This record gives sequence, C-alpha cells and structure tokens, in this order.
Amino acid sequence: MPGKRTPPVKEAELSTPPLPSEKEALTPPLHPDLARILVPTDAIQARVAELAEQISADYRHVERLHVVGILKGAFIFLADLTRRLKVPHIVDFMALSSYGKTTTSGAVRILMDLREPVEDQHVLLVEDILDTGHTINYLLHNLEGRSPASLKTCILVRKMRQGVTTPVDYLGFDIPDVWVVGYGLDFAEKHRTLPYIAELKR
Ligand code: IMP
Ligand code: MG
Repeated sequence: MPGKRTPPVKEAELSTPPLPSEKEALTPPLHPDLARILVPTDAIQARVAELAEQISADYRHVERLHVVGILKGAFIFLADLTRRLKVPHIVDFMALSSYGKTTTSGAVRILMDLREPVEDQHVLLVEDILDTGHTINYLLHNLEGRSPASLKTCILVRKMRQGVTTPVDYLGFDIPDVWVVGYGLDFAEKHRTLPYIAELKR
C-alpha cells in the first residue's frame, strides 16, 4: 500500500537459535538406553580425516581404488571416509548376515554381493566394527578367491578381545568389549544414526 512502510524487523526475529552452553555441548543428553559416550563426534571426525589422509597417501599410485562397504553398519563411516579420499575410487557394497553370534560357529552368509568385479583391482574393505573377526575373516577369504591386486581392511572400531588375530590395516579406535551403538552401529536397528559411539546399557 502506498505510504505504508514495512515495520522494522525486531532483533529477536533475526537471531539464530542459541548455541548450547559449553557443558551441554560436552555432554549431550544421553538416551536412557545408553550408558556413556565412548567416542565423541569430534574425535570420530578427526580420526576419519587422518585415516583418509593415510589411505590417500598409501594408494597415491593406484589408478582406481575399490572401496567396499559392508552393509549396513559401515555406511556412515564409508560416507565420511570416501568424501575425504584424494585418490580416484569407486564405492561398492556387500551385505552379510551372520549366524550363531553367541556361538563360536561364526557362519557368515552373503545377502548381497558386489556389483563390480574385483579381479586385479585394489580393494579396501570398510567395516564398522571388529568383534570376533568372523565377518572380516570370511570376507578376506572370499575376496582373496576373486584375485584382487591387493586387499586391505579399514575398520572404525575394534573391540579389545582376547584371541582375535584378524589383520586390520587401518583402524579408527580400540574400544572395550561392550555393545556399542551409533555412527552406523545399531542394536536391533536402534541408535544407528547417532553422531557419536556410545556404550549400550546392559
Ligand atoms: P564379528 O564377525 O564378530 O567381528 O562381528 C562383526 C559384526 O557384528 C559387525 O559387522 C556388527 O554388525 C556386529 N557387531 C559386533 N559387535 C557390535 C556392537 O558392539 N555393536 C553393534 N554391532 C556389533
Ligand atoms: Mg556390520
């Protein structure tokens, strides 16, 4: 309308949401299922950046790296890691199911296989967690059979357990032998998308 001026925007309407206090930022409110934060968000992000640097340096002469993520747990780690890689790479996935988690049988079955052949390719397996090692051992054995040029493992967390000798080439963190969730890891599909890794209450 002519002559009508827009009222000035009040300062309160311009301001962004308040930042958390330092205390709140350091101790995000924990879900009642969770006992404590084992690996905070910033520690994960810093370590992922270091791993990506190391991998980029090690594979600098490789024409194209095949990064293989193990579903579902590795998808968040893989997304952050691959976005920081400075070497040419493709991303592929496998999905596995393991039987007898509470027994020593450790039988593993492929639910979804790779789309791309890995013969003569440099393969980097990316997994969320190493517990008994059954999953990674099975995968190493299975993929070795496909004659890759090289085969290495990159694992975000390894539980400190006795008697597990599975080789890990790139490791994020050693953690206590407790059930953990977050950053891709779940408990019956819960807590997978937390930005940190937390111990589940028993
Ligand atoms: P492994 O075969 O015993 O080494 O176990 C590896 C798989 O078990 C991982 O890919 C996870 O899916 C699952 N797993 C083992 N420990 C945990 C945990 O603490 N939290 C969530 N998933 C786990
Ligand atoms: Mg998994």
